[in-house]
Amino acid sequence: MNRFDLTGKRAFITGAGSGLGQAIAIALAQAGADIASFDLPGASNQADTSASIAACGRQMLVLAGDVTDPVSIETAFDRAEQELGEIDIAVNSAGIANVGAAEVMPHAQFLRMMDINLNGLFWSCQVEGRRMLARGRGSILNMASICGSTAIPGLEQAHYDATKAAVIRLTKSLAAEWAGRGVRVNCLSPGFMATPMNSRPEVAENVRIFAAMTPMKRMGQPHEVGGPAVFLSSEAASYCTGVDLNIDGGFLSI
Ligand SMILES: NC(=O)c1ccc[n+]([C@@H]2O[C@H](COP(=O)([O-])OP(=O)(O)OC[C@H]3O[C@@H](n4cnc5c(N)ncnc54)[C@H](O)[C@@H]3O)[C@@H](O)[C@H]2O)c1
Repeated sequence: MNRFDLTGKRAFITGAGSGLGQAIAIALAQAGADIASFDLPGASNQADTSASIAACGRQMLVLAGDVTDPVSIETAFDRAEQELGEIDIAVNSAGIANVGAAEVMPHAQFLRMMDINLNGLFWSCQVEGRRMLARGRGSILNMASICGSTAIPGLEQAHYDATKAAVIRLTKSLAAEWAGRGVRVNCLSPGFMATPMNSRPEVAENVRIFAAMTPMKRMGQPHEVGGPAVFLSSEAASYCTGVDLNIDGGFLSI
């Protein structure tokens, strides 16, 4: 039996319109899952994601909403279950990044970061977890970052790093809370990956420094989160919960 096989499973993925969420949507579909893709209205690459998923013979449902609004997540999740069937797998990849010196950071910039990257991820876990706990089965995968465990030299993003540290802790606490009720909760911590988030001119020099400091001497490609996401979402990881899996070319090993 192939315990990595996701045939017949259905996955709800936030932030699936771009970057890592999109790459995970495609990887889960290649492993056999149908996909409900949740992103902001008009998110750029939903059509590309859809075409790639159709090419592997799976269905994709496009859902528009905002993770800062719990009602919009709940409405979308219900629609996904009506149209695709019960959701077995959730991946929470919606997020933003920006920089700013901590001592002068406007309150609004700090609060928006918390609202999307931390609060929005918690609302997502809450909606997904509630449905999965009622059925006694499910897997939730949260997108953290190596920046939740370490600061990148020269990168002024204390607010972003704080959200990712909180995502790692939240993941482990939810894993402990729900482990006896059939729901696994894990997270991924990528290093710098080649997504639209890292094509911002403000991080170009940091990306170059990161690649030079990384034992593998390069940044990651979006598809390189796919295998770890399939593993943690599958029966192959049936005894894994509360895991923070680094996908960083060895960066946190040094
Ligand atoms: N790219 C990297 O190097 C990297 C590294 C570590 C962690 N991450 C994390 O991975 C996740 C995805 O990053 P990415 O590189 O794919 O970025 P991206 O900008 O390519 O994609 C992020 C997606 O999230 C969506 N989104 C943003 N705010 C939203 C909201 N309020 N509601 C719903 N959707 C929203 C965007 O529309 C976009 O489609 C983020 O949580 C990010 O912090 C990225």
